[in-house]
Amino acid sequence: MTTHNKAQTNLIHAPRQAPQYIETVQPPLFRASTIIFKSTAHLFDRHWTDAYDYSYGTHGTPTTFTLGDNIAQIEGGRYCLLAPSGLSAINLVNSTVLGSGDEVWVADNIYGPNLEHLNHLQDRYGITVKIYNPIDANSFQPTEKAKLIWLEAAGSVTLEFPDLKNLVKKAQQANVLTALDNTWGAGLAFNAFDFSDEHLTVDITVHALTKYPSGGGDILMGSVVTNDQALHHKLYRMHAIQGISVSGDDTAQIQRSLAHMSLRYEQQAQSALTLLNWLKQQPQFSQVLHPSDPDAAGHQFWAEICSTGKSAGLVSVIFKPEYDLAAIRKFCDSLTLFKLGFSWGGPVSLAMLYDLKQMRTLENTHLQQGLLVRFCIGLEHPEDLIQDIQNALKLLD
Ligand SMILES: Cc1ncc(COP(=O)(O)O)c(C=O)c1O
Repeated sequence: MTTHNKAQTNLIHAPRQAPQYIETVQPPLFRASTIIFKSTAHLFDRHWTDAYDYSYGTHGTPTTFTLGDNIAQIEGGRYCLLAPSGLSAINLVNSTVLGSGDEVWVADNIYGPNLEHLNHLQDRYGITVKIYNPIDANSFQPTEKAKLIWLEAAGSVTLEFPDLKNLVKKAQQANVLTALDNTWGAGLAFNAFDFSDEHLTVDITVHALTKYPSGGGDILMGSVVTNDQALHHKLYRMHAIQGISVSGDDTAQIQRSLAHMSLRYEQQAQSALTLLNWLKQQPQFSQVLHPSDPDAAGHQFWAEICSTGKSAGLVSVIFKPEYDLAAIRKFCDSLTLFKLGFSWGGPVSLAMLYDLKQMRTLENTHLQQGLLVRFCIGLEHPEDLIQDIQNALKLLD
């Protein structure tokens, strides 16, 4: 046998292990596809559907379970699965719960790509998609085929707060699962698993961790939280067979940002309220949308559910009809601190232009006609943000 340098093998089988007593501010980061079994007994006795039984990277690592536990805890639930984006978390729920012939109910103001995914399932698998008005629980009329209702509080873009209690009550009576897109509330504005009412709870929350938990505008991730172990196992099985997994590095980044999520949430919410008060005085807008505003559709539901007065850092404006698309484009292009982009919860304030006519199915009598701009408030000083909007508005006169 030729003598050889052991260094090559030693580099791979490094002898040093971290001692048990080492404690760091952030938990250690695990990156894994392979997870090494201690023995064949460990291999054959494993139960991958149980959280914390490690078997392969896609089924979870201490890093993903730690973030999952934290997200479940923040939202008031018990079990959490992570997905590579908020939209993929939404799709995990749809593909677990819905089958051919089922009926699914969606709020008219729901996050658009969720509706797009459901419309795709409708065309491909014969699922019926029905739309309800989130501020009128009577518009939700499930048949015996209904399996799932999607809730969103407050709704994307137009920010109506739904009649959550009555919608959940009706769904429970009809044996329909409730899934709430909890991205706006982030588990901080209200507890969706406990509406402080007898047995009123949603079954599933989905959270685009891309927004507030990440806080950087640079990482995509989503979560699915439940309180029901059987439902969690169904979701976990679909999660595994679809090969849904997240990177350890991304997970650790979000874990790191969670420590200051509530501070950022509060600050951005406060700045949004400062902007709301100023925007309401500007003559160019026919409507300013924010659930804390007494004139907002669904304000009474927000006041009841978000009883501590919390809200996210989003506020939308509808321009008076005399401002056409060219004018609103000029307005958006003239903003300097607000950048044009989707999403929210990052340090940089964002603006996005929407044409509501192309986004709603039902007649929305509570909304004025006109083009809408949504402002997602970042961490800049609110007076600078007001100045930025004021400068852009001046160019319209
Ligand atoms: C309310 C809401 N839900 C879900 C998502 C999807 O999240 P992601 O961008 O991580 O796919 C978004 C993204 O904008 C959103 O606004």
